[in-house]
Amino acid sequence: MKTELLFMKQEDVIAAGALDMQKILELVEKVFYLQGHEQIINPPKTVFGIPIGEEPQSHFFSMPVYIGGDVNRPGIKWAAESKTNAKTGNLPMGIDMIILSDPVTVQPVAIMDGMVITAMRTAAAAGVAAKYLAPDDAKVAGLVGAGVIGRTMIMALKEVIPSLKQIKLCDLNTEKARNLADEFKGEIEIILSDNVENAVSGADIVATMTTSKKPFVKSEWVKTGAMVIQMSSYEVEAGVVEKSDKIVVDSWEQMKENELSIINQLVKKGSLDEKDIWSLSKVVCGTKPGRENKDEITMFSSRGMGSLDIIIGDYLYKEAMKKGLGQRLVLWDEAKWV
Ligand SMILES: NC(=O)c1ccc[n+]([C@@H]2O[C@H](COP(=O)([O-])OP(=O)(O)OC[C@H]3O[C@@H](n4cnc5c(N)ncnc54)[C@H](O)[C@@H]3O)[C@@H](O)[C@H]2O)c1
Repeated sequence: MKTELLFMKQEDVIAAGALDMQKILELVEKVFYLQGHEQIINPPKTVFGIPIGEEPQSHFFSMPVYIGGDVNRPGIKWAAESKTNAKTGNLPMGIDMIILSDPVTVQPVAIMDGMVITAMRTAAAAGVAAKYLAPDDAKVAGLVGAGVIGRTMIMALKEVIPSLKQIKLCDLNTEKARNLADEFKGEIEIILSDNVENAVSGADIVATMTTSKKPFVKSEWVKTGAMVIQMSSYEVEAGVVEKSDKIVVDSWEQMKENELSIINQLVKKGSLDEKDIWSLSKVVCGTKPGRENKDEITMFSSRGMGSLDIIIGDYLYKEAMKKGLGQRLVLWDEAKWV
């Protein structure tokens, strides 16, 4: 019997609805809900860097997942990041693919570009965290990093924090920051900051999404009652984590395997107890509280979970089938050795 799958190029993924931040936030929150109800198998991602034995120039991540409940979808994300691409700017720094399979016959049903999905789901996870942990009535956000995740972070925060009036944006590449601010003209006020201290000081929400090799957010710049969002492993100094009253991560199971994570380093050093690090699923399911008062500092950090990509991929695949998007590919006409 012939086996076919749907190939979705990036344009199909977008036409199917990948840029609808409201929908992406809903799907991402559903993942945290299902995760809290043990309906997801999401083993820690495996990672390798190449070339072997040297400072890696690229990293590859394998992220297998099964989402249960009414989703019932196994799949895998094959993700990669290239330092060369980040330097030259000719190609995206991160390039990802998603494969979805049938849960019963195990046939592949779709293969699609995962780059836009990654950018959207990464910021949406922070958005869901902000829904539970940001100060009420937050007005000013200080953002560091005007790249791919910088763009989707603005989209997510605009959606979940309706009180947000102003974004202070900083990037080492000032032209990138200016261009990103221009993209959102008329939607929200974005003012450019020429250094991190200016961007972060006094902000109700601080968010970092950079490729920096060193921490750059000092604890004294984070005001009482703020929420701090860290998208990479070590953008904030240890003092910011130590100053935080609540530390929430996308998945502690995943993050504790990342040696670069500043949160993980503090646990290993013994200055932070892992029982004080909560997975966001606990907050979404109500087994741990979200923000409880206006003075606490909350922190969210993520390493990225494949389950977010697979639930979005599954939704977009179904939308593509309805809309007639994508291209049918034949895996075999007659399966050999049946
Ligand atoms: N947690 C997750 O799920 C997840 C998913 C995807 C990406 N990420 C991480 O998010 C980060 C951003 O990814 P991206 O795709 O937006 O990268 P990008 O290359 O598109 O953008 C990064 C930006 O950071 C800026 N930058 C670097 N160092 C800086 C510094 N010290 N101060 C100010 N700006 C600085 C660069 O100029 C660039 O504009 C990366 O570290 C990536 O690994 C995390």
